[in-house]
Amino acid sequence: MNKNYICKIVHNTEITAGIHKIVIEKPKDLGKVKAGQFFNLKSGEEEYPLLRRPISVSIIDDETLTFLINKVGKGTMLLCSKNKGEYIDILGPLGNGFNLDIEKNNVLVVGGGMGVAPLLELVKQLSLKDDIDIKVMLGYSDIPFMVEDFKEFVDDLIVASEKKEFDYKGYVTEPLKQELQNKKYDHIFACGPKPMLKVVKNLGEENDIPVQLLMEERMACGMGACLVCTCKVKKGEDDWNYVRTCKEGPVFYGEEVIFDE
Ligand SMILES: Cc1cc2nc3c(=O)[nH]c(=O)nc-3n(C[C@H](O)[C@H](O)[C@H](O)COP(=O)(O)OP(=O)(O)OC[C@H]3O[C@@H](n4cnc5c(N)ncnc54)[C@H](O)[C@@H]3O)c2cc1C
Ligand code: FES
Repeated sequence: MNKNYICKIVHNTEITAGIHKIVIEKPKDLGKVKAGQFFNLKSGEEEYPLLRRPISVSIIDDETLTFLINKVGKGTMLLCSKNKGEYIDILGPLGNGFNLDIEKNNVLVVGGGMGVAPLLELVKQLSLKDDIDIKVMLGYSDIPFMVEDFKEFVDDLIVASEKKEFDYKGYVTEPLKQELQNKKYDHIFACGPKPMLKVVKNLGEENDIPVQLLMEERMACGMGACLVCTCKVKKGEDDWNYVRTCKEGPVFYGEEVIFDE
């Protein structure tokens, strides 16, 4: 049974144009939260916008939860306008989260745009495992953000930007292709725009590497009731099915997901 909690905001800063880092007090009775799970955050008290907004948890600490929120519309604007000391109503944790029970330990983590946000907690948790080799590849349309946060947990990291010269100029999927030619990886985790996820899925299949994709479909209830968030997945050998991203996802294995052309 999912529960909502009223949590105090302890920190709210705009880390780069339009993107806020919001840290809230973690409810004492919250229980375990997995990397890749999300909360449905209530954006306002008024009638509009009616729905909560799904936001991935970016860092889970003993006392706090951190969210990275990009202001793209009314709901996220209202969330980002809340001040330190104010309260926020969160529902969750929701969804399945990443499966960290992986057998081999040469791991690639690929993020694009706001998709880097849920990967930070993932990388933190992976870095605590024994005998693990993690490479992080972050792609941005313009100015990178959160790079220093990732560097707290990994040394091997590259940054791609479509507009600026960092380690690579262009889509992050290009250095990803090169990396897969140079080294054998055992597992890939990814979150980002759908075209990026589609390329990562295909590269995983070509190189016989399991891929976990965090899919950010539009959502409403966030709890499996409204069927707004469906994702097309394989069913058996040659059939397919729609499943709820909020309930059966948001993390799916690449081999399951069908990206429509
Ligand atoms: C599981 C999950 C985790 C997410 N985690 C984060 C996160 O950590 N940080 C973050 O900033 N955002 C995250 N999002 C996206 C976020 O929920 C939406 O940006 C937000 O709901 C938009 O609400 P709004 O009222 O501000 O904008 P709206 O007015 O509803 O929409 C404004 C614009 O954003 C687009 N949009 C709305 N929802 C989505 C979506 N789900 N994916 C892509 N585009 C969308 C719309 O098409 C429209 O162009 C996540 C979404 C999901 C499903
Ligand atoms: S958002 Fe309602 S079923 Fe997924």
